Amino acid sequence: MEQGPSPNLRVFPDVESLSLAAAELFGQVADRAIAERNRLLVALSGGSTPKRMFQILASSPFVQSLAWQKTHFFWCDERLVPPDHPESNYGQAFEFLFSQVATPKENLHRIPGEYPLAQAVKEYSRILENFGDVDLKLPRFDLVFLGLGADGHTASLFPGVVFSAEKVTPVLAVEADYQGRPAYRVTLTPLALNNAHNLVFLVAGKDKVHAVQQTLYGARDLEKWPAQRIQPVNGKVIWLLDKEAALG
Ligand code: 6PG
Repeated sequence: MEQGPSPNLRVFPDVESLSLAAAELFGQVADRAIAERNRLLVALSGGSTPKRMFQILASSPFVQSLAWQKTHFFWCDERLVPPDHPESNYGQAFEFLFSQVATPKENLHRIPGEYPLAQAVKEYSRILENFGDVDLKLPRFDLVFLGLGADGHTASLFPGVVFSAEKVTPVLAVEADYQGRPAYRVTLTPLALNNAHNLVFLVAGKDKVHAVQQTLYGARDLEKWPAQRIQPVNGKVIWLLDKEAALG
């Protein structure tokens, strides 16, 4: 298969240096977005990898230098749990970041996981529309942080599940089987994600090697490797890996 252009990829010795680089990238994108649009729209993922970046953003110099009042946060996906549930992606970000910084509560646009699935999708779609450009019913995120599961999933786009609707709607309900148990999720779709200016994959750990290799260098298989669907229309994808995830 013809290989695509080589990925924009940086490898770091460890999670600490990867997370610092991610925080620095956050600052660079923030400066440009606020200079150009006087606001910054960021979409976060859950999982364990972003935690250290959250802590770095919540500490000096970032906690003082970033324009928290002008920054709006969204989520790439959420589990169908209340915000104070230990599995809540919003809850994790609040614990590690938002409980420490001056982001106004009204700037946190969480996916209401406490609602029934269809209602959570409807409500989040409405929230996104409020930030949509005139032509699109969804925001053009300045910065999206994505993870990559060992099985190749990203956000809550799981292998083997390609929704025909994911090209025409920005938010989807997911009822998948993940790690041997039902996963009820709300996820942004490639339509929403690929509208972003910058998409940054944060990937660490040796268990991710195969998924990284197949996603970036394997045959094109959008069903088996969902992160291959991340192809921004007019933006860029950056992969920040630790050494373990990059060994291949
Ligand atoms: C979630 C995340 C998910 C995550 C990957 C990687 O809801 O769990 O959005 O897509 O990014 O599972 O998770 P780790 O960072 O823990 O490897």
